[in-house]
Amino acid sequence: MKRLHLISFGCQMNVYDGELMASAFKRRGYARSDDPADADVILVNTCAVREHAEEKVFSHLGELRRHKKTNPALLLGVTGCMAERMGREIAQRAPYVDIIAGARSFGDILDLAAAAKDGTDAVISIGHDRPPPDRDVSVRQDPYRAFIAVSRGCDHACTYCVVPNTRGREKGRPLDGIVAEVKELVADGVVEVTLLGQNIDSYGKDRPEGEDLHHLLHACHAVDGLKRLRFVTSHPEDMQVEIFDDMANLPKLCGALHIPPQSGSSRVLKRMARGYTRERYLDITHEFRRRFPEGEIAADFIVGFPGETEDDFEQSISLMHEVKFQQSFIFRYSSRPGTPSGIHFEDDVPLPIKAARNMRLLKTQEAISRKKHAAMVGRTYEVLVEGPSKKDKSVLTGRTRGNHLVHFAGSVDLAGELVDVSVTDFTPVSLRGAVAG
Ligand code: SAH
Ligand code: SF4
Ligand code: F3S
Repeated sequence: MKRLHLISFGCQMNVYDGELMASAFKRRGYARSDDPADADVILVNTCAVREHAEEKVFSHLGELRRHKKTNPALLLGVTGCMAERMGREIAQRAPYVDIIAGARSFGDILDLAAAAKDGTDAVISIGHDRPPPDRDVSVRQDPYRAFIAVSRGCDHACTYCVVPNTRGREKGRPLDGIVAEVKELVADGVVEVTLLGQNIDSYGKDRPEGEDLHHLLHACHAVDGLKRLRFVTSHPEDMQVEIFDDMANLPKLCGALHIPPQSGSSRVLKRMARGYTRERYLDITHEFRRRFPEGEIAADFIVGFPGETEDDFEQSISLMHEVKFQQSFIFRYSSRPGTPSGIHFEDDVPLPIKAARNMRLLKTQEAISRKKHAAMVGRTYEVLVEGPSKKDKSVLTGRTRGNHLVHFAGSVDLAGELVDVSVTDFTPVSLRGAVAG
């Protein structure tokens, strides 16, 4: 039997796309292999959002190359956003790569692999929207939780971001197909579904039937057997506060938002072309908390955006204090070729300053998380049990509706169940607890 080894970097959308490619190979009779040494096809599914991520891929490819010595028939492919962005440049820097298939263009990955087998040059597919392969719902990382892409691409033009270039214009999937996928997943044991879009709030804007996120949430919520529903990523410019009413009315829908502010300074937000101010961002989070005092908000921040002053940065710190995020993903600005800020703005914040700002935001978030977690001690939360903890197999791990990671003792038979856990202790990154009752 032939084997596929696939590694995905980047966001959940990329992981999902990896699963679509793996589905195609599975239908062709391929098994999955964790070990690149015994694979017939290796796919490195890449991210282009920061330069560092791309450099890591080249060193990884350099390592994978040695498997071609023991298996000359091995096909090595680069897929995802970096493939879409760089195309032929990858073949120039790593001439031993056989397949280059971009994030919009991997729909016929099996044909590309077949063509690569017969040729000597790399087979390149970029720059055209190909419908992705159908999903085989059994191909997924987690037995109980699954992601579903509901739209692809992005119509925003945040000045720092490559995604509009790599994934193209926003394109929503038909609602019926998404609901059918939820049903199939649930029939296969999934209890929590997260709907994915680069900008989930504008789902449906290009759909002829006029469906939108509100309709989509209701339709997915109605699927019997589904226990929890989430959606990411929200964009503050497109977020409709009416969605918070859905969160209140639909019990399976978790009160957790991932809505990246990127910066707390309106001046920087303007240069990022984000389309909102600090005040508008705060209004949205206040509306959310007004309806959900227990609701949780997760953030992305970029530090060291061109022209970011000490005062601008202090405003990101103060936004963090004001909103009290459940979790923050913090990135140092990376100038990307072909993006508006890459072309027009000088990357003028020195690396040591970026690093220091990154560290300060991390420390600030850590202090907030600590306080939040301390306030949860002694209270009981609904937890979806994922299974034994990766680090300590003697305890179970799961998440609250607000996305807090919880460890607690219990039988592995609880995996996939919703249980009430009372919180007894905490670290900045997780909670400890005991099954209640
Ligand atoms: N569609 C999502 C996420 C896009 S990429 C959204 O709009 O929110 C994920 C995160 O990477 C972004 O939220 C941003 O914080 C970060 N990012 C994107 N481009 C970046 C760059 N050039 N440098 C540093 N971080 C970047
Ligand atoms: Fe990138 Fe902005 Fe689109 Fe997000 S909304 S994918 S940050 S351009
Ligand atoms: Fe995702 Fe990275 Fe592409 S964040 S959309 S894989 S550039």
